[in-house]
Amino acid sequence: MKPLIAGNWKMNGTLVANESLVKAMLDGLAAQAPGADMALCVPAPYLAQLQSLLNGSAISWGAQDVSSHEKGAYTGEVSATMLKDFACRYVIVGHSERRQYHCESDALVAEKARLALAHGITPIVCVGETLAEREAGQTEMVVKRQLAAVIHAVAHCTSEIVVAYEPVWAIGTGKTASPEQAQQVHAVLRAQLAAATQHPERVHILYGGSMNAANAASLLAQPDIDGGLIGGASLKAAEFLHIVASAR
Ligand code: PGA
Repeated sequence: MKPLIAGNWKMNGTLVANESLVKAMLDGLAAQAPGADMALCVPAPYLAQLQSLLNGSAISWGAQDVSSHEKGAYTGEVSATMLKDFACRYVIVGHSERRQYHCESDALVAEKARLALAHGITPIVCVGETLAEREAGQTEMVVKRQLAAVIHAVAHCTSEIVVAYEPVWAIGTGKTASPEQAQQVHAVLRAQLAAATQHPERVHILYGGSMNAANAASLLAQPDIDGGLIGGASLKAAEFLHIVASAR
């Protein structure tokens, strides 16, 4: 299985900046045969732009959230059908910023994952503990509870999800989990997937949280780290490509 390096632009970008960033990535890739699958998860208003810039390239695109409803009177929401209209391959669900700032529960995240799969979009399911939870020795319990809700909702489709372990204390803070800390949690998640699907090895388990060009290789060398979900470093073409190159 090829590693997957997915960028999460969060709420960043402009039409002009996106075009130069994506072009710089594509130019860089022309000189470097990628050893990893790649994706960029961008703000919904830019999906059409990314579709036209990336169509036919080695980079897939996706969104950062999806509604848990099919359609209707849900002002401000974006449905899975709409994401499919722009040929999204991926959608991030349950990012800690959504769990924290938008009060998303495990059940809501699980429903979003289920709906994405039902529409042929791969959910990148984020799990991760806060610093207080880690210090209280609750890391395993928290990530297992978050993943269990999704496994319960998607059932026999569990092998089709992507999981991203993102310790909340490492996101955007410059504090990365050590490769050993990350691997320990990834192994727990792999074991949980193994109990739920016959093909746990098919599920990419990405690490996210201050992954950058300097620390990517040691994280990606861990046996259960199958790629990365990259925030800040995905806004710089050279940095993103360096991470991709580390994932051979
Ligand atoms: P970061 O964000 O790489 O900027 O820490 C990762 C994420 O939140 O997905």
